[in-house]
Amino acid sequence: MKKWKIAVVGASGMVGGELIELLEKRKFPVESALFFSSGKNKSFVKFKGKKYECSAPDLKSLCDCEIVFFVSNEEVSEKYAFRLAEKGIWCIDDSSRFRMDKRVPLIIPEINGELINEKNKVIAGPNCTLTPLAVGCALIHKKLKIKEIRVSTYQAVSGAGRKALNSLFEESSLFLKKSFYRKSPQSPLPHPIAFNIFPQVGSFDYLGYSGEENKVSAELKKIWNSKNIKISVTAVRVPVVRTHCLSAWIKTEKNWTISSLEKIFLNTPGAKYLKNYYSTPLNTAKTCEVYVSRLRPGAIEKEFAVWLAGDNLYKGAALNSVQIAEEINRKYAK
Ligand SMILES: NC(=O)c1ccc[n+]([C@@H]2O[C@H](COP(=O)([O-])OP(=O)(O)OC[C@H]3O[C@@H](n4cnc5c(N)ncnc54)[C@H](OP(=O)(O)O)[C@@H]3O)[C@@H](O)[C@H]2O)c1
Repeated sequence: MKKWKIAVVGASGMVGGELIELLEKRKFPVESALFFSSGKNKSFVKFKGKKYECSAPDLKSLCDCEIVFFVSNEEVSEKYAFRLAEKGIWCIDDSSRFRMDKRVPLIIPEINGELINEKNKVIAGPNCTLTPLAVGCALIHKKLKIKEIRVSTYQAVSGAGRKALNSLFEESSLFLKKSFYRKSPQSPLPHPIAFNIFPQVGSFDYLGYSGEENKVSAELKKIWNSKNIKISVTAVRVPVVRTHCLSAWIKTEKNWTISSLEKIFLNTPGAKYLKNYYSTPLNTAKTCEVYVSRLRPGAIEKEFAVWLAGDNLYKGAALNSVQIAEEINRKYAK
C-alpha cells in the first residue's frame, strides 16, 4: 500500500493540532512526517506516539514531501504553495489565499471531490463558516434549486485561532475573579469576547459587509458552481469554544413539503438531520458531520428556515483537509 511523505505547516496551531490527531485517528497512510510552525516559540507535537519539535518551514524540506497541509496563514501559503505544486507536490491549503483563484479548486469532498485532479495540485479548503450551509443544503440545492439565502452566523472563537481562544479564557477568568471586562492584550478580536457578542468578523468593506460575510457568499457560489444565488449574510462572533452555528432562511425555485425536505436532508452526504431536537456547540464539537435542525416553513412562499451547525476545527478545516488527502490517496496512490 502506498504511504505518503507529508508535512504540516502550522502544526502548532488550532487547526494543525486537530489535523495531526485526525491523520492518526483515520489511519491516513503516512511514510514520513514533518511539522512546521513560525519557529518563533518552541513548540512540540505528538504523532503516532512520537514527539516532534516544530521548526520554521523551508523550501528544501518541503520539496521532500508529497502532500503539504498548509494550516498557518495566507502569506505562508502564498510563499510556498505554487512553487511546490510546480514540482508535483500536492498542497492542501486551509488559508483563504487561493480560495477564489481560478486555478485552484475549492473543495468539499462530499460536494465536488471529483474536481481533484493532477493538473491542479494546489487545492483550497473553504471558510469554516459556510461549511455547515454548503454541506447541509447541497442536496436541497441540487434537487430544488436554491435561489435566495439569508443567513446569520454564530461563530466560535477558535475560528479566529489560538490567540483569540486564549483571550476568551483570560477575559472570562478576569470577569469571574474581579467582575470587570477587559479585552485581553493578546486578542486579535475587535472587542472583549467573554460574555459578549459582536457582529464583526474581519474588517468592513465600502458597503458595510465584513470580510467573513463576503467570503461566505463568494465561496458558497464557487463550491456550488452557482453564481446567481442571492445571499445575504450577517456574521457574528459569540463566546463559544468551537462549532459555528447558522440560522438560515432559504428560498427555492421548486416546490416542496416539509416531509420532502426532510427526506432530502436525511440523504445528504456529510449531514445529519435532527427531527425532534437540535444541535448546540456542546453536542456537536469534535464530530465529523454538519447538523440540520429546527426545519420549518418560512414566512414567504417556497422559503424554509433551518438551524445549521458544524465544528469549525473539524469539518470546517482539519477534517475537510484530511478528507481531501484521502481522496488524493484513493485516486492517485500507486
Ligand atoms: N480556526 C479555524 O476554525 C479555521 C477554519 C478554517 C480555516 N482556518 C485557517 O487555518 C489556518 C490556521 O488557523 P488556526 O486557527 O489554526 O490559527 P492559529 O491557531 O493561530 O495557528 C497558526 C499556526 O501557523 C503558524 N505560523 C504562523 N506564522 C508562520 C510562519 N511564518 N511559518 C510557518 N508557520 C507559521 C503558527 O506557529 P506558531 O505556533 O509558532 O505561532 C501556528 O502553528 C489559517 O489560515 C486560518 O484562516 C482556520
